[in-house]
Amino acid sequence: MRKVIKYLKPYWLIALLCPLAMILEVSMDLIQPQLMSDIVNFGILGTAPADENLRYVIQTGIYMLIFSLIGCAGGILSAAFGTITAQKLGNDMRKDTFEKVMHLSFQQTDKFTTGSLVTRLTNDITMIQQFVAMSLRMFVRTGMQFIGGIACLLFLNVNFGLVLVISLPIQLIVVTLIMKRAAPLFGIVQDKLDKVNSVVQENVTGARVVKAFTREEYEINRFDDANTALMETNMKVQKLLAILNPLLMVVMNASVMAIILIGGLQVEAKSMEVGSVMAAVTYITQILMSVMMVGMMFQQVSRAMASAKRVKEVLDTDPVISDGSSAQAEITQGRVEFKNVGFYYPGTAGKPVLKDIDLTVEPGQMIAVLGSTGCGKTSLVNLIPRFYDCTQGEVLIDGVNVKDYELDVLRSKIGVVLQKSELFSGTVAENIRWGDNEASDEEVKNAATIAQADTFIQGFNEGYDTMISEKGASLSGGQKQRMSIARAILKKPKILIFDDSTSALDLSTESKLHEALRSSLSGVTVIMIAQRIASVMRADRIAVIDKGTICAFGTHSELMQSSEIYRDIYYSQMKNEGGEQNG
Ligand code: CTP
Ligand code: MG
Repeated sequence: MRKVIKYLKPYWLIALLCPLAMILEVSMDLIQPQLMSDIVNFGILGTAPADENLRYVIQTGIYMLIFSLIGCAGGILSAAFGTITAQKLGNDMRKDTFEKVMHLSFQQTDKFTTGSLVTRLTNDITMIQQFVAMSLRMFVRTGMQFIGGIACLLFLNVNFGLVLVISLPIQLIVVTLIMKRAAPLFGIVQDKLDKVNSVVQENVTGARVVKAFTREEYEINRFDDANTALMETNMKVQKLLAILNPLLMVVMNASVMAIILIGGLQVEAKSMEVGSVMAAVTYITQILMSVMMVGMMFQQVSRAMASAKRVKEVLDTDPVISDGSSAQAEITQGRVEFKNVGFYYPGTAGKPVLKDIDLTVEPGQMIAVLGSTGCGKTSLVNLIPRFYDCTQGEVLIDGVNVKDYELDVLRSKIGVVLQKSELFSGTVAENIRWGDNEASDEEVKNAATIAQADTFIQGFNEGYDTMISEKGASLSGGQKQRMSIARAILKKPKILIFDDSTSALDLSTESKLHEALRSSLSGVTVIMIAQRIASVMRADRIAVIDKGTICAFGTHSELMQSSEIYRDIYYSQMKNEGGEQNG
């Protein structure tokens, strides 16, 4: 809640105007019954001549009309101020949370899950907004209605206090009992909503796979389960809340009857006017209504608390991977060294994925990394731009530990082409400019040419201005790979990492790419993960990885001599691709 107040600060003036306008509205509401009572007491039952009575009724009626118009204006203003505050606050909060999410490291986003982050950014913040808008208005309204109502009622006749003494505690007990049971459910509702969002998110992004495997039925069932779980928790909450209001209504009606009874007896005894009884009925209704409101507010508060806690969790998460302390460290050469590096993924109980990695890549060298699937190649290169931090040993660039660089400096000099090409909706040029926003058309085209992408891009109707649909769905796998390569090249990095990024290219395109890299990016260190011998043969050195360790390192011909694993891979691929390689 303190967080929410912090976000309220910049808008304190508008936030303050909201309850002020509300005070206006409630004051008018409190005056009305009094005027009504006067009309009855003096205007209708009064003893003055008839025309004077009529004048009194009309005059007071006009007052009532004016007051209710003022009240109405107050109400509208209060709603407007409340809404503005809540929207601005939600906007800021969403912005900060999104920024935070952007800075979280892989392991942290993995832990939250995408679905949950989406819920927190949307639904949870909306809950907080609703709460702010309502509490700004309702706290004041209920408070004033409650206290003002009691004051007015007792002013009319102290005996009415008796009704309050009995009915108020009953109402409070009812509200507390029910809210106590409902409050914990609100957090659960949000968790269930996370699950629904996760399923939706997974299936919408993976729609193609779902269709390819005709898993629609299964996934629909999975969604049904999550959705039903959400509904059931919501039902539980609603059932509790459904009891609340009718119970409160019973208490209220009983109280009204008690007021009429007490008032009636007093009118009989000529110690009270009929109009005052009418006013008292209105006041008691207002008082008990405000208690009902408190019930409603409790509900909003517990909902908002649950949501605020979830948003706070994100806001309070410090990125585990953050800037290093060496502000002046710069990558100028691109020498990469792994010194006795070991690594395990968080949450895998220390089961090592990499161990005892010692590897030096000289500036401008092209190193290939080869190894069977799941042996740890991606994990190895992920340590260089600090997508993860190694758990043992150290990774150095130009002799400086990667953890000492500022993240921006480090990553701006490393071009990464991920194993799975991710493109974004926008034009071809926009996608390549991810590498460098300021790049000229010339530079974009140049990068695309090196990446062997220029030809196919020129083939598009609108060339570099062709729109790419979400996630690059309108491109072939090899086209996506080459776009991602162009994007990485445009960054003018000192170190280029290709994670199996040429797997979808035919051999001749791939070899053209290699030549272009060699000639255009001579000073750049290239680390290239590949599965095909044909792809790695041209590298200066090849590192063969087996079960998380480098089991062989050398040139193609050296490895053919010394490494049995390398020979095995070589011959098995020759056999499969047979004629193509030898012929
Ligand atoms: N792994 C993990 N948590 C992750 C990613 C990977 O526990 N977030 C595990 C995988 O199960 C695997 C090992 O780490 O056993 C190595 O994964 P990776 O480095 O991705 O393997 P690659 O060699 O890149 O495999 P591939 O050729 O299939 O890309
Ligand atoms: Mg991989």
